Amino acid sequence: MTTKGTQKKVQKVSEVKKLKKGDSLPTIKAIENNVLKCIIGQDEAVRRIITAIYRSIYLKSIKSNILVIGRSGTGKTETLKQIARNLKIPYTVEDATKYTKEGYYGNDVTDMIENLLFAANFDLEKASHGMIIIDKIDKKAGHNQGDVVGVAVLNSLLKIIEGCEFGMIDGSTFDTSNLIIVFCGAFSGIERIKRRETKAKVIGFNTPTHIEPSTEILGCTKSDLVQYGLPEEFVGRIDTIVEMKALSKDDLIKILSSSKLSIFKKYQNELKKLGITITYPRKLFERIAEKAMKTSLGARELSNVVNYIFEEILYNVLSHPGEYQKCKLDIGIVDDNMMYKLS
Ligand SMILES: Nc1ncnc2c1ncn2[C@@H]1O[C@H](COP(=O)(O)OP(=O)(O)OP(=O)(O)O)[C@@H](O)[C@H]1O
Ligand SMILES: [Mg+2]
Repeated sequence: MTTKGTQKKVQKVSEVKKLKKGDSLPTIKAIENNVLKCIIGQDEAVRRIITAIYRSIYLKSIKSNILVIGRSGTGKTETLKQIARNLKIPYTVEDATKYTKEGYYGNDVTDMIENLLFAANFDLEKASHGMIIIDKIDKKAGHNQGDVVGVAVLNSLLKIIEGCEFGMIDGSTFDTSNLIIVFCGAFSGIERIKRRETKAKVIGFNTPTHIEPSTEILGCTKSDLVQYGLPEEFVGRIDTIVEMKALSKDDLIKILSSSKLSIFKKYQNELKKLGITITYPRKLFERIAEKAMKTSLGARELSNVVNYIFEEILYNVLSHPGEYQKCKLDIGIVDDNMMYKLS
């Protein structure tokens, strides 16, 4: 007889099972909770991406090709990586700008599959349930003059989206129908298309006051994407469009203080391992966030600012092993990394 307690335990164990035929996945809620420990300020987007991915895994008859739109450093790639890690599936991040139509100089879609196989340690079955993240897809839009074959590349991607059998070098075939394909892009300037459309529809349109302009979700539609220059037949295959909002200063502060990915916390932990405890002023994270907000790199810039802060400290600490136990940061360290005291 099983008690309630053991039943609960059994359920817990099954939550971390691998994605293999017959095995159960972690619950959708468990994945969401884990991802939200890392990704800050994108709760709705995270939920929608996970749902679309679960839909493609569980509801085989409904394809889920996902497009994630968002500025640089808002968490597009990181969210997908975290989901793949939680699902324990192999993934590869591919830069669409490196791809050309077959026969041209550059990579073609078979390279994507090879990279995925590599990530799966050449386990074909595992790779066929993996995730391909195709980044910078917006740079393949027709209006980007630099890439004359952009549209042709998108069309050759349709092959794997549709689900086909790829002939491998060793004579085996690779079925793409179970792959999870996610496109990402910044689509800078798409707000202009959106604004034109909104103006045409609503006379005297005003931005609602409850939405901060910097963190606004545009509600991009397929027709906006076509106007942006993506081919219609490509856009037609996208089932879920998810937008990541631009991160606010408060989001950046929260990333520093509470995200599992916080670069500041990483330094803090590493120095702790060297026997050094850091103390810092209450306003430090705000100052770091303010500095990062001056760029358009979003949370990505936090790494640059924090790396700068710890550069001199690290040099000093590593030059004098075992000599210090405490490191006191001054608020001015954000702009001058000599402003600290080791003791
Ligand atoms: N919402 C977020 N919450 C916590 N950390 C974040 C978030 N967004 C970005 N980061 C941090 O910034 C790094 C870069 O983010 P990511 O690679 O996801 O950016 P991106 O949106 O894909 O940008 P790009 O368009 O430049 O590729 C991540 O590794 C993570 O450490
Ligand atoms: Mg990215």
